[in-house]
Amino acid sequence: MKNYLNQLDQTTRTFLKNIGREADRSKLRVYLVGGPVRDILFNKKNLDLDIVIEGDAIEFARHLAKSLKANVKIYREFGTATLLFPHRHVDLVTARREDYPHRGALPVVMPGTLRDDLGRRDFTINAMAIALNQGNLGMLIDPFAGQEDLKAKKIRVLHDQSFADDPTRLLRAVRFEQRLGFHVEPKTLGLWKMAMKQKFYHNVKPPRYFAEFKKILGEKIPLKPLKRLYQLKGLAFFKIALNPDWKALENVQASMNQTNGKGLRVQPGLIYLIALLGNVSDASKEKISQRFQLTREERTSLLQSTKALKALQCISQKSCSPSRVYRLLGGFSLATILFLRGKTSSRSARQRISRFLTQDQHVKLNINGTQLKLLGFASSRRMGQALEEVLYQKIDGRIKNDRQELMAAQQLLKRRGNKNGAFRKG
Ligand code: CTP
Repeated sequence: MKNYLNQLDQTTRTFLKNIGREADRSKLRVYLVGGPVRDILFNKKNLDLDIVIEGDAIEFARHLAKSLKANVKIYREFGTATLLFPHRHVDLVTARREDYPHRGALPVVMPGTLRDDLGRRDFTINAMAIALNQGNLGMLIDPFAGQEDLKAKKIRVLHDQSFADDPTRLLRAVRFEQRLGFHVEPKTLGLWKMAMKQKFYHNVKPPRYFAEFKKILGEKIPLKPLKRLYQLKGLAFFKIALNPDWKALENVQASMNQTNGKGLRVQPGLIYLIALLGNVSDASKEKISQRFQLTREERTSLLQSTKALKALQCISQKSCSPSRVYRLLGGFSLATILFLRGKTSSRSARQRISRFLTQDQHVKLNINGTQLKLLGFASSRRMGQALEEVLYQKIDGRIKNDRQELMAAQQLLKRRGNKNGAFRKG
């Protein structure tokens, strides 16, 4: 019998073996399931470990947490638990059977066997398990011929009702197809198209459907599934005609790939959402934000993009100084700014935006109101404005040290003071 765990690194293998050993002691059957099994067979790295137990997952998770010295998070309402190790999380769930009371409804869940659990899943390639108990450690359990589909690069549903049971699978089919370089096999594609035609996606609460869409936006190369969805009219759930600017989206993707790992903390999918909805009216953006219950950051970034595109026109001009860029970009979210950087075809605009992100947005003055008050200037709005002006001069490189900062501020205050009436104390 082939041990499919042999393809994993030593640490993960030992770790899974230990889980199996503990399950033997507790007289439970335990399996690695779903995504990680697919990725083992497809030779792809996947750090998520999803484990199914024929028995009480929560009780077993508590036991494991003790013996493997991990923290554990229990989700009683879902019957699941997550073991938290310093470098990985492991999800444990009781094998379950699901009944869907009506289309798109959340399923009624009951404990079941591994076979039940695999039978309720989305696609054959995601419906395989690897046994972890010692007696059959590493054995593949593949009741729906997932391995064959994996070899043939096919996305196939387990039964004809799959998209009706869970319409979010319409998005998942395209996500896996494009991520893995597979194709949705003809019968499944037929069911897919029928489900779209009948608008099955209306049977799912919009925020839940959108959460699945966000997974597409969060893919490493989201443009592939986005284009495929567009081609298949799979973006109809937005309920508005979308006319994406693909060139802008491509630029955004290229610039994001360069940015990856450079320490910019941004929800990557958000940039693609802004780019996707770039041509849409503000009223529609507002509606979309409400219907899908977008977060405040998402809504703000989306609504900012119209104003931001106007700012981009100024930033693209030769005469745009670094301090002008600072003022233009200052109020926008990081996602909006990265979107602009991706969107522009002007190299110098891109360089100006990068300079703002890496350098100018962090510039601070070394002086503040306290020094100016010691020199006899009264605290006022004008003082704030003068300090701001000095900051702009510093950003433009016209001020090099603390003494120059103080001199520039004094000059500005005196000038303004003379013009607007003296406001020097005493
Ligand atoms: N699943 C399903 N139907 C859904 C969501 C999930 O059948 N609507 C099942 C699939 O078997 C899937 C598993 O639950 O493999 C875990 O779901 P998820 O974490 O979303 O998918 P992964 O396959 O792990 O994908 P990824 O690699 O993107 O994490």
